[in-house]
Parts: sequence; structure tokens; C-alpha cells
Amino acid sequence: MSDWRALFRARRSVRCFQSRPLPRALLVDWVEAARLAPSAANRQPLEFIIVDDPETTALLFPCLRWAASISPRGDPPPGREPAAYIVTLVNTAVRDKGYEYDVGAAMMSMTLAAWAEGVAGCWLISVDRERVRTLLSVPETHVIDSVLALGYPAETPQAEEGTGSVQYWKDDQGRMHVPKRRREDILHFNRY
Ligand SMILES: Cc1cc2nc3c(=O)[nH]c(=O)nc-3n(C[C@H](O)[C@H](O)[C@H](O)COP(=O)(O)O)c2cc1C
Repeated sequence: MSDWRALFRARRSVRCFQSRPLPRALLVDWVEAARLAPSAANRQPLEFIIVDDPETTALLFPCLRWAASISPRGDPPPGREPAAYIVTLVNTAVRDKGYEYDVGAAMMSMTLAAWAEGVAGCWLISVDRERVRTLLSVPETHVIDSVLALGYPAETPQAEEGTGSVQYWKDDQGRMHVPKRRREDILHFNRY
């Protein structure tokens, strides 16, 4: 997608995926987008684990919680789980607080790089970190911050304007609707 407006408008968190594998080269490319992202004081405390082997993806899946406010309707249905994950870690020897901005920049860089290739993601912080630490042998020196679930999309969630609520919902056809605050409610010029 060359039109960045269309790219940003269409991007949604996706929780239902095609059972098509993701080439590892693409996953590495998206980590490259994160590696090059801005970092406070250029400290670069983040590290990443690509999880793409079917056995480990199957074990990681139950460690994650999806769209909690409509649970379990937001869960990926059987056979529609993510094809791969990128787990974002923080090396606390490099930075042990104030790293969340770096995580945000990295996660969105990866999400948008993937989306530009037709691959959807869902950023997850509802993660059973103890189980993930054991499963992926993450050392105690590293915080498990976020997980990016990835795959070719099998749903097309829809952004909604001005519903007066921030609560997302699924309609009778199972389509997710995601309200966004209206521009006039959040944008100020020169002063509040
Ligand atoms: C920091 C952060 C944490 C999130 N954690 C979860 C999560 O644990 N599980 C989940 O299903 N979605 C999670 N999301 C996705 C949000 O629910 C989603 O971005 C929001 O509903 C807006 O939808 P959209 O991304 O389609 O615009 C998270 C998003 C962010 C930015």
C-alpha cells in the first residue's frame, strides 16, 4: 500500500487469521523495523524473540488473552490462530524503567511494516508472563513486555466514528467494530 492514509485507516487489530505460514524473512524484516525505531536517549533496551515453529506457537497461544471486554468472543477460533509471534523483551541491564515509549515505537513499527505487506497483527499485553518465561527460556534479567501476534487476516474489523463510547463490539455476523474518538474531540490548535 503506497498511500499511507489508506494504510493507517485500514489497520485494525486482527484476532482471526488464515492458516497460511509466514515466511521467516518477513518476520526478520519487521524486527528490523523495530531495531531502527526511535529509542529514548538511544539506549535501545529492547530484544525480540520470533516464535514461528508450530509446536511453540501452539504452546504460546494459551498464554495470551484476547479482547478481554468481549471474552471469549474475541478469541481466535480453532484453526484461525496466529501464524507467528514476535515477543518484545526489555533488557533491564540497559534500562529498567521508562522503556514503555520504546516498546510503543517498536510495536507500532512492526505492526505497520507487517500491515503494509498484507499481514495483520494484534498487540497483546494480557500475557501469562511466568508461563511465557518458562516456555521461551527468557532470563530473569529481561522483562517480557508485549507480544505481537501475526498472520494473514481472516477478518476485517471496522473502525467506527463518534459512537460516544470506546467499547468495541462484534455484530451478528461476527464482525468487530472499533469506535474511534472524533477528531474534533481530540484535536486542538495552538491552545487547548
Ligand atoms: C498497549 C496495548 C495493549 C494491548 N493488549 C491487548 C491484549 O492483551 N489483548 C488484545 O486482544 N488486544 C490488545 N490490544 C489491542 C487493543 O484492544 C486495540 O488496539 C483496540 O481495541 C483498538 O483497536 P484497533 O487496534 O483495531 O484500532 C492492545 C493494544 C495496545 C496498544
